[in-house]
Amino acid sequence: MRIDIVTIFPTFFDVLDISLLGKARQSGLIELGVHDLRDHTHDRHRTVDDTPYGGGAGMVMKPEPWGEALDGILDGAADPVVIFPSPAGEVFTQSIARELAQEQHLVFGCGRYEGIDQRVFDDTAARARVRLMSIGDYVLNGGEVATMAMIEAVGRLIPGVVGNPESLVEESHEDGLLEYPSYTKPAVWRGREVPPVLLSGNHGAVDAWRREQQLARTRAVRPDLLP
Ligand code: ADE
Repeated sequence: MRIDIVTIFPTFFDVLDISLLGKARQSGLIELGVHDLRDHTHDRHRTVDDTPYGGGAGMVMKPEPWGEALDGILDGAADPVVIFPSPAGEVFTQSIARELAQEQHLVFGCGRYEGIDQRVFDDTAARARVRLMSIGDYVLNGGEVATMAMIEAVGRLIPGVVGNPESLVEESHEDGLLEYPSYTKPAVWRGREVPPVLLSGNHGAVDAWRREQQLARTRAVRPDLLP
């Protein structure tokens, strides 16, 4: 998969060199391009924002640098999906992560300040699939943290990125429920025992217990996930 990111903070994405995603890049499963929006300004101050038409607080990102940056990425690209992180977007979920993991090319446009001139979305939507995506009902200072979260969630679903694909199946949200609690050795720690069923060797009983735990947890903290 090819991933391009447009941002005014390119060094923010240096951490994509490490961990599972860093390995995926080294092995060629993920190809990453990070683009500095300010490289597409043409004034002495490298200006990317201006005051909003109609008045109001804050600044709006100017369309010209965005247009030029996205032209450079999209011209000649084969059917990319362009994602603009935004608290006004659809909510990013595991099922959207699975959808995006099937794509060949994702482009993330990280806005800052009060947002990006609307015409950038309209112009991009005229030549590519565009999705505004929120990572939750809270406000961040910009799209960078949201982009990192989405890249990690999508990247680990690309075949070969996570060593043991079975570990993807049993985790929170994959089956619509929260994960069951996990235990490892020792069997007693600070007087706290591992639930005996997990030491029983009875796989049917273990599966049933885990399912019960998933349901109880989901009912307690995320009843909205239950049918
Ligand atoms: N930018 C600011 N807040 C955001 C959020 N919650 N999700 C995605 N992008 C954002």
